[in-house]
Amino acid sequence: MNEIKRIGVFTSGGDAPGMNAAIRAVVRSCIYYGKQVYGIYQGYTGLINGEIEEMGARSVSHIIQRGGTILKSARSKEFRTVEGRQKAYENIKKFNLDALIAIGGDGTFAGLNVFYNEHKVPSICIPGTIDNDLPGTDYTIGYDTATNTAVEAIDKIRDTALSHNRLFFIEVMGRDSGQIAINSGLAGGAVAILVPEEETTIEELIAKLEQTSKNDKKSSLVVVAEGGKSGNAMEIAQKVTEKFSYYESKVTILGHLQRGGVPTYFDRVLASKFGVAAVEGILNGKNNVMVGIRGRSLVYNSFDEMKEMWPEIDTESLRISKILSI
Ligand code: F6P
Repeated sequence: MNEIKRIGVFTSGGDAPGMNAAIRAVVRSCIYYGKQVYGIYQGYTGLINGEIEEMGARSVSHIIQRGGTILKSARSKEFRTVEGRQKAYENIKKFNLDALIAIGGDGTFAGLNVFYNEHKVPSICIPGTIDNDLPGTDYTIGYDTATNTAVEAIDKIRDTALSHNRLFFIEVMGRDSGQIAINSGLAGGAVAILVPEEETTIEELIAKLEQTSKNDKKSSLVVVAEGGKSGNAMEIAQKVTEKFSYYESKVTILGHLQRGGVPTYFDRVLASKFGVAAVEGILNGKNNVMVGIRGRSLVYNSFDEMKEMWPEIDTESLRISKILSI
C-alpha cells in the first residue's frame, strides 16, 4: 500500500541517553521490513549540508548501551529559514528519501511540522529529550536515565551535606519543565523541590527550612529546577542565606552530566519500542505525528493535537515529597 522505500533518520536538539537505542531500532526495523535507511548527521544541519549515508544492520551494532548519539546532534538556526529548509529538501530529492524519522524534543518536532507543511515529506517524530516535557507521551527517551543520574548525584551530595551539617541547593536540568527536579527530589529525599510549574516564594522556602531545623534536621537538600520562577540555584541560595543562617550553604549545578551516560533499561526499552513504532507507523501511512506511550500503549499524536495539550507534571510526586519532608 505504500511507496516508501528509503527512510532518513536523524537526532536533533539536546542529546539524550537512549537515542542510540532508538537509532538502532529504526535502522533494524527498516531493514526488517525491506526498506533502505539513511543516517543524517547532526540533525537538520546535516540535512541541509547533505551529510547523509546509508546504514546497515551492522552499522548500529554495540550501540544500544551507549549514551549520546552516533548520528551527532545540533540545533540548526539555518533550518528555521525558508532557504535552509529548501536546501534540506534538495538533499531529500538528491538522496531519494521518501520519509523522515526525527528523534528529538519539541523544537525538533516543530521544525519537522513546518517542513512537512512546506514540502509534504512524510515524517514521524520520536520523543527524545531528558526534559520529559512533551505532551502526548508519558515518557521521553532519556528522562529516566537523567533522573537516575541526578538521584545518584544527590545521594553523594547528601553524604557530604550530612558530614558538615550543611544546606545544599542542587540545580537540575529540564529547561522550563520541573519533571527531573520533582522525581529526583522525591527519590533523593529533598526537603524542598522548586519547579517552574509551581511558585514557591523565598519566604515559604525559609519557613520550611526553619520548621525542619527546629525538628532537629542537621542538614538539608533543596532541589531546584533550572527554569524555576524564583531564580537559579545560586540566586536562591543567596536570597535564603541573607535571611536564614542556621546552616552553612553550598550550591551544586549538575548541568550536562545529566545528559550523558549509559541509558537505563527503561530508556533502552522505550527507545526500542518507539523506533519500531515509528517505522511501522510511517509504513502504515501515519504522517506528521509523534510516537508516544500512554500506560503500556503506543500512540501517535499529530502536531495539531499536541498544540491543544500540555505536558503533564507529576503533581502527585510533588505532594508526596511535601508530606515526607518534615
Ligand atoms: O533539552 C535538554 C536540555 O538539556 C535542557 O534540560 C537544557 O536546558 C538544555 O538542553 C541545555 O542545552 P545546551 O546543551 O544547548 O546547553
